[in-house]
Amino acid sequence: MGCKPNYIARVKKILLLVVTGCALVACKHDKIKSTYTIGFSQCVGSDLWRRTMLEEMKTELSLHPGATFIYTDAQNSSAKQIAQVRNMLRQGIDLLVISPNEAQPLTPVVEEAYNKGIPVIIIDRKTSSPLYTAYVGADNYELGKMAGEYIGSTIKGPVSILEVMGLPGSSPAIERDRGFNDGIRKFSNIHVISKVYGDWLKPNAEKQLYRIKDKLPLVNAVFAHNDVMASGVRDIFSQLNIGHQVKIVGVDALPGTGGGLGMVSDKIIDASVLYPTGGKEAMSTAFRILNKEPFSRENILQSLVIDSSNVQLMKMQWARINNQQKDIEKQQVLIKEQQGIYDSQQTVLDVIVITLVLAIILGGLAFYSLTENRKINKSLAAKNDEILSQRNQLIVMSEKAEAATEAKLNFFTNVSHEFRTPLTLILSPLQDMMNNEKLLALGGKDIRIIYQNSHRLLRLVNQLIDYRKIEYDKQSIKASANNIVAFIRDIVDNFRPHAQKQQIHLSISSNVNDIKCWFDVNMLDKVFFNLIANAIKFNNEKGKVRVNIVKRNDEVVIEVEDTGVGMNPEELNLVFDQFYQAAHMPSNGSGIGLSLSREIVNAHHGSVQVQSEKWKGSKFTVVLPLGDDHLSADEKTTEPGNWANLSKRSEIYSSDLKSSVALTQPDLLSSPKEFSILIVEDNQDLLHYLAAKFDEYFEVYTTDNGHDAITQAYEHVPDLILSDIVLPGISGKAVSEKLKSDLRTSHIPIILLTAQGSVEQQISGIDAMADIYITKPFNFDYLLANVKNLIKNRRILKDHFTSDISTGERTSVAKSIDKKFINDFAGIVEQNLSNDKFSVDDICKLIGISRIQLYRKVKALLGCSITDYILSRRLKKAQYLLQNENFSIAEITYQVGFSNPNYFATVFKAKYGCTPTEFKRNPVA
Ligand code: FRU
Repeated sequence: MGCKPNYIARVKKILLLVVTGCALVACKHDKIKSTYTIGFSQCVGSDLWRRTMLEEMKTELSLHPGATFIYTDAQNSSAKQIAQVRNMLRQGIDLLVISPNEAQPLTPVVEEAYNKGIPVIIIDRKTSSPLYTAYVGADNYELGKMAGEYIGSTIKGPVSILEVMGLPGSSPAIERDRGFNDGIRKFSNIHVISKVYGDWLKPNAEKQLYRIKDKLPLVNAVFAHNDVMASGVRDIFSQLNIGHQVKIVGVDALPGTGGGLGMVSDKIIDASVLYPTGGKEAMSTAFRILNKEPFSRENILQSLVIDSSNVQLMKMQWARINNQQKDIEKQQVLIKEQQGIYDSQQTVLDVIVITLVLAIILGGLAFYSLTENRKINKSLAAKNDEILSQRNQLIVMSEKAEAATEAKLNFFTNVSHEFRTPLTLILSPLQDMMNNEKLLALGGKDIRIIYQNSHRLLRLVNQLIDYRKIEYDKQSIKASANNIVAFIRDIVDNFRPHAQKQQIHLSISSNVNDIKCWFDVNMLDKVFFNLIANAIKFNNEKGKVRVNIVKRNDEVVIEVEDTGVGMNPEELNLVFDQFYQAAHMPSNGSGIGLSLSREIVNAHHGSVQVQSEKWKGSKFTVVLPLGDDHLSADEKTTEPGNWANLSKRSEIYSSDLKSSVALTQPDLLSSPKEFSILIVEDNQDLLHYLAAKFDEYFEVYTTDNGHDAITQAYEHVPDLILSDIVLPGISGKAVSEKLKSDLRTSHIPIILLTAQGSVEQQISGIDAMADIYITKPFNFDYLLANVKNLIKNRRILKDHFTSDISTGERTSVAKSIDKKFINDFAGIVEQNLSNDKFSVDDICKLIGISRIQLYRKVKALLGCSITDYILSRRLKKAQYLLQNENFSIAEITYQVGFSNPNYFATVFKAKYGCTPTEFKRNPVA
């Protein structure tokens, strides 16, 4: 068990490792991810050139899969573009790529971004500020110049030029115009006859051309700032039918459908100056900046003029490039697919690795717990074996105990059977003797005692045999349907004479007069005989016994309630126990009666319970089921119940109920005896017997309980107390302890008389300061001899104390409390021998007891009255003084407390037969 916390800690550790491992795997994937966000603000996105720029950017971006790309189209509106950039900055971007619609209006927002630390790449068009990180685009000035020089070098004769410019304020328009002017300057045959703004758009350009259509026939060369406006020029010239000789030069030279390359090869325009979009370059520069790699700030893209001489070559090259691009894209798709496969394989691998790790860990744990479990199982198995062997031992022991109990019970039962015949042989002649008046007159009391106790013995023997039958032989009842009210009423009636003798009010009541109940008349009677006999036996004189029968649903409840001595909770717990005898129970309560009663009620499938309160009374409640559903065929009999012989059967229960013989009290008329004894015994028969026997020798006081014993001891101060140990209320031992520790009664010898004969019990009796412990049955002569002997010893003790106080010796037999009393008493007398006013009251005050108690105590211990003792001590001292001192008779008279020498002489002579003078002369006499 001690390894458990350790085990849990280990498991926790391992799980932590697993979680960490999984987290690491997750991190590995996270690292590949780029978190860059690139914003691209386009001034206008609808035309082919800008779409090409965007495509290029995306192609480059595809090489950086983690990057986020935000794209906005300002649709030729500077205000819109400003708002879009602001929004991007709010969203949070790592780098801004911008192609400003117009230089001036866009400058502040670009500077703002730059100043915030966001790298800014200007593409194609410019702002009017140097605050940017990098520029990507062709040199528009150079481009314009190349166009001017191309026109100048390819047209001979006078050249009238029309310039169609881009959006006013946009940097390419400004720079291309400037470059173009510089390009044509060296050609004296060239002059510009008109300039219009086409705003980079074909319709706008056409509109402007219509406005100056009158001038157009003069024009033989056009420089349009882009190819779309150049194609518009061609259209207008065609429409006006004036354009056959006009050389049109555009800018952009885009490949693909609608592009400048196509226009040149289709002869819509004559030439186009290549203006690369720079989308790819812008993106690669952006990643170099973000990855903190070296980059160039000004990325000027190369340009050239494309016309009929090189357009096919350019187209071929473009087609090749285009194919290559497509291959790249295909490969990128493949790479993407591979990446996807790789990713999913990686995930599978991760899962496999984690599962493997978990499997290893769990396997380890399983192995660990397996070994732990084995250890625990081993120790449990050992414990189990131990418990099993203990259990087996207990079984063997309990079997032995059961066998021993059964053997004992067998023995008791067998002996009981043996007892029955002699008992019957005693009882029947006894019955004859009781019927014989002459014999009754002679030994009536004794015959009656023999009769009652023989019955009692028979009852005990019968109960023992019944108990054996039910409890061990499991003999079933033989129930028949009878009126249980009538049955119990008959039982109660049998006890009426006994109740009346003790003036006990015995009543029976029932809520229904006829209650049909299945019971065994030969068994159930014993239950109620026992309960009612006990209720009378343990009741107080003039007490009550109430039997109440109630029919309730499918059961009958019979209560037997008394107002007797009752029981305390401990006694109550054991009351139904086999052979239990409560301490207060008189010796005639064997204990088996209630146990047997319970067995009989149980055999009837009923129950018996008891409620009791000490000194208030007890209530036994018997509950029996009605009907016969609960009885097996074996438990029933077809013979009708017959309880005609109840009276005879009740005899053994009622025979030892209190007889009407009054307690023997000292006969006031007979001559008083010298010594008195107090007999304490709750068995009335024994009490009467002992009282009658001792009456011959002593004055006898009797009582049947401990409380009264103490009261009588104080009142009569008897010469001896003979007490039973088991008594109602206070036990004989407690009586002994109480009296022996009280100065007034400590001198009284006590004999404890009991049926409890073990050595331990005898020792405990002696511990209670009893003088002798005699076990029942006893021989009366032996008891009498002991009583006489104790009283004689007491007299010897008295003689010893009264003989001579000067010896100072005391017999060791004397109880210490008595010794102290005698010493105190003798000392007080000795000190006051010369005091002629000294009285008994003085001694009472000094010792602290009443005059009568002092009188009885002195009489008991010293065998004389107090005044006799004082006189005797005075004369003894006078004798001594006369013999040993040289005082005059008069002096001695006063020294021994006599006020008159003549009276002293008279008293002295009465005691010793000579006058003090004669004694002084001849002390030996
Ligand atoms: C496209 C375009 C191009 C031109 C460039 C100048 O919108 O008009 O034709 O070369 O912009 O910024």
